This record gives sequence, structure tokens and C-alpha cells, in this order.
Amino acid sequence: MDFNLISPAFKANPYPAFSWLRTNAPVYQINMQGDRPAWIISRYEDVDTVLKDQRFVKNVRNALSPEELSQKFPWVQPDPQQQQQSGNAFLSHHMLNFDPPDHTRLRSLVNLSFTPRLVEQWRERIQAITDELLDAVQERGEMELIGEFAFPLPMMVITEMLGVPTVDRMRFRTWSNQVVEASGNFEAFQDLRESLREFRNYLSDLIAQKSKQPSEDLLSKLIRTEAEGEKLTEEELIAMVFLLLVAGHETTVNLIGNGVLALLQYPDQLEKLKQDPSLIKSAVEEFLRYQGPLITATQRWLSEDVEMGGQLLRRGDQVLVLLASANRDDQRFADAEGLDITREENHHLAFGKGIHFCLGAPLARLEGQIAIGTLLRRMPHLNLAIDPQDLVWRPGMLIMGVNNLPVTF
Ligand code: HEM
Repeated sequence: MDFNLISPAFKANPYPAFSWLRTNAPVYQINMQGDRPAWIISRYEDVDTVLKDQRFVKNVRNALSPEELSQKFPWVQPDPQQQQQSGNAFLSHHMLNFDPPDHTRLRSLVNLSFTPRLVEQWRERIQAITDELLDAVQERGEMELIGEFAFPLPMMVITEMLGVPTVDRMRFRTWSNQVVEASGNFEAFQDLRESLREFRNYLSDLIAQKSKQPSEDLLSKLIRTEAEGEKLTEEELIAMVFLLLVAGHETTVNLIGNGVLALLQYPDQLEKLKQDPSLIKSAVEEFLRYQGPLITATQRWLSEDVEMGGQLLRRGDQVLVLLASANRDDQRFADAEGLDITREENHHLAFGKGIHFCLGAPLARLEGQIAIGTLLRRMPHLNLAIDPQDLVWRPGMLIMGVNNLPVTF
């Protein structure tokens, strides 16, 4: 079996391979780029365990001694402060790559800004942006759904929440796409050096400008916290803005894209949702399960030896959980390979689990519900304008989504 998790061709339909894994090799070792071995975990029950079990750490420094670290990963500094000199620390110095207590400290700075109650206050604004984007294409009767709708919507929302000007969003999209598409591909990362430098400069200029003209937005709030000095270093602030901007749109774009694609491939489900728009909440949960925006969660490391699925996983080993496989596990979900927008008790793992459970889940859900609900109401005669075989899936290990989705209506 060839598990080339980063190749677009594999991603076009990874589900037969995932099914094989769940049955035959639920804990399976693959070679990542650069010959680095990693365990891939495919069953729902095991994925759920890994995400909750704190022996699977996020920061490799908590899994290996400084000596082991310098042997295996010479580019990782044992002291995170030294890593900051490298210029790329903003890619990793955020909560998603830290364990407690750093994770707890960083997450607590933004937790309250993303509760369902606070996010609900954005409903009207999300609806207005959705309508604006659809107004712009309505007369034309066709659009490229990713570029003209699914991408700009979450991007505009997260930039407004942070208080960042949206004018730079195409530049920002390029950098952000480059980073996520290089995930799991060491060589691709090497080629990005210049781009990453520009991205970091952009973020630090943004922070400098905002410091001069603070207001009530999230970025101003974080800058005030950084000024207090104890809770957030400058590098962590840049990394936080990077994480929120990237996580805030790279995923939701594919919730909208994959959700619409799934409906177009299941006309009976599309009809059901058009007949009863109140099903949008359970429909969005089902889109997240059926074909969520992420194939894997981000990487974890073992801080001690663990037995799982008949294998001995050693301290220091790298572990990847296949969210997209867990969500199609027929031991957990009835008719797991089918789309059922009325599914009840849908405990999918698309947002992860445990302490790193997606901070933005309430926002992503609201955006997905408004975007897809409004699209079907305003453009009921929606059709795919391309043969599904010709869809091109985005490269990189993390993201599950298409480059373009041309539709007519
Ligand atoms: C449908 C859209 C989304 C999906 C499927 C998704 C999925 C995920 C997953 C699976 C994780 C955990 C990764 C891991 O444990 O390795 C995560 C974490 C995170 N997500 Fe999302 N996400 C989405 C939207 C968003 C949005 C809109 C934001 C914006 C605020 C966001 C911010 C974050 C942050 C900050 C974390 C790190 C949390 C932590 O480490 O404690 N996400 N997301």
C-alpha cells in the first residue's frame, strides 16, 4: 500500500486506503519525507485516545533529551528562546505546538474571545459578508466557489475580528497556502525561506502599525498583553497572529468547499436540505465528518513508550492521527462511507479532541451554517460546472480541499 499523504492524487480518494488500514494495520509505520518514520493511526477509538492522552506531546523538546534532539533534529534548539533567533520561530511558537503549562497560558489569552456566546455576536456581520459576496456573482449565474466565496468569507471574518486590514488578503493567501501545502514536505519548506521571511515581516509590521493605533479588536488586546510582558513574548505574539489568521481561514474554506461538493454529489441530500433549511446544523456536522477540512491532526511525539494496536511505539516516535479515517470508521458510525445530513449523535473528530480541541469551532460552525444555508437559499439551482474527476486536490499532508470548484446556478 502506498500512503503518500501529501500527494494530490492520493487525496482525491484516500478512503479505500484508510479502510484497509483500519482493518489490517490500525497503527502503521510510514516514512515521511527525509526518511523520517511516523506512526499513522486510523481507527476512531485510537485517534480519540491519542488526542486525549498527554503522553503524546506536541513539543518535541518534551519527548527527547537535548542530546537526542541535537542528533535527530539538529535544527531544533533545545532552548526555545534560542530558536527565536532563527526567524522562523513564528511558525511553531504558538499554542498548537506547546504542551502545558505554555499551552494553557497562551490559550487562556484568547479562549474567551471565541466562546459560542461571543461568536454569536458576529452572526449579522457574517451574514452581511456572505450576502455581499453572493451579490457580486448572482447575475453572472456562475462562479469559482473557492476563490469567490469559500475563501474570502472566513478570511474577511477573521481579519475583522483581529482588526487587520483586509486589503492585503491576496498576498496573505499566497503565504498561508504555501505554508500549509508544504506541511509534511521538508524540501518544499526549504524552498520557502524567502517567502517566510516576507510573511514574518508582514506580521511584525502589522503589529507595529496596530500598536500605534490600538482599538477594541483582538489584536489590540493581545498587544496590550504583550506590553504587560509576563504572559506573551513578542515572538509568541507574532506566532499567535499567524496561527489565528491561518487556522481561521485555511480550514473553514474547505468546510464550505467540501460541504457544497458533497451535496452536489448526493442530490437526495441536497434536495432534503433545500426542503428543510432547519437541517443546516446537523448537515454541517455531517460535512465535517464525511469530508472534513483536515486529513490529519498536527504531529505529536511520544514522551514515553506506549503499546497500541499491537505495536510498541517508542519514546521520541512521531505520531499522526488520521482524522479523515477516524470519521469514516464503521465501528463508530453507521453507514460511515455515506452522507446523511440528518445523522444524530455525530461525535466526529474533525475539530480534534482534548486540550487542543479547535479554539475556532464555534466560529467555523456558524460560518459554515450561514455560508451554505444562504448559498442554497439564494442559488437553489446549484450545479457542478466540472467533471468531479477533474477536480484538483491541494497538496500537503494536512489539508483536504480542492483548488477550485466551478459551479453554475
Ligand atoms: C471547519 C473549520 C476548522 C476545522 C476543521 C479545524 C480543526 C482543528 C483541529 C483538528 C485542531 C486540533 C489540531 C491538533 O490537535 O493537532 C484545531 C486547533 C485549532 N484551531 Fe481549528 N479548525 C477550524 C477552524 C478554526 C477557526 C475558524 C479558527 C480561528 C480562530 C481556528 C483556530 C484554531 C486554533 C487556535 C487551534 C489550536 C488550539 C490549541 O492548540 O489549543 N480553527 N483546529
